[in-house]
Amino acid sequence: MPGRAEAKEAEMTATTSNPNSPAALPDYAPVPPSAQGPALNEVRGGGDLHIAVILGSTRPGRLGEQVARWVIEHARHRTDAEFDLVDLVDYPLPHLDEPLPPNMGAYQNAHTQEWAAVIGRYDGFVFVTPEYNHSTSGVLKNAIDYLYAEWNNKAMGVVSYGAAGGARAAEHLRLIAGELQMADVRTNVALSLFTDFKDFSELAPAAYQTQALETMLGQVIAWSQALAPLRQAAQAS
Ligand SMILES: Cc1cc2nc3c(=O)[nH]c(=O)nc-3n(C[C@H](O)[C@H](O)[C@H](O)COP(=O)(O)O)c2cc1C
Repeated sequence: MPGRAEAKEAEMTATTSNPNSPAALPDYAPVPPSAQGPALNEVRGGGDLHIAVILGSTRPGRLGEQVARWVIEHARHRTDAEFDLVDLVDYPLPHLDEPLPPNMGAYQNAHTQEWAAVIGRYDGFVFVTPEYNHSTSGVLKNAIDYLYAEWNNKAMGVVSYGAAGGARAAEHLRLIAGELQMADVRTNVALSLFTDFKDFSELAPAAYQTQALETMLGQVIAWSQALAPLRQAAQAS
């Protein structure tokens, strides 16, 4: 039976329809094997810090997968942190069904405990978010709402995409981050569907976006490191 990584590779090669083009373009070509790179959820890089790239779109034909791959491929070159992909497709949480508020830390459902164990092991996060109706996706918001302490005292950065670079989704994530005691870094990688995707379907980011990504990754790593004493203090109390 194929593992998650193999299944994801197979998914990457599947031809999917393109609902993003206003001109209803025909199906876009699968990513050629030469351009696919390693499995999406492979552990990356080195160092003691562990950062999760959280892929916040789950719909069939999502552009988010290409965006997350681009982020991971750059992140893996860093030697100052390790990066994993956390794909929400792999964590099909129901609509929030915990009886107690998450800040009470009394998670009762097995799926919540599993999700808490996943998120709890990271020092920082990069959220890859689409813009849906001027905000982040419902699936990402739901996954965030499940937990509390696991997000606290960690850094976060955003890679957003949409007609206006997903800027409104990114700004909403900053508001959410504040409530969860996450430190949001300045740089937001905002990919435009018009200029950073060919035919609204194939990621082809402008050169400055790669620079912005590197800057953002550096900021997330630096702040994740800087917040380590707070995480340790919280753990000890
Ligand atoms: C439900 C829905 C709402 C959307 N709302 C917006 C929006 O408010 N602003 C925008 O720029 N794009 C919007 N879009 C377009 C998405 O940004 C675009 O389809 C993008 O590819 C979605 O990410 P995904 O392919 O990873 O799901 C919307 C798309 C969907 C499916």
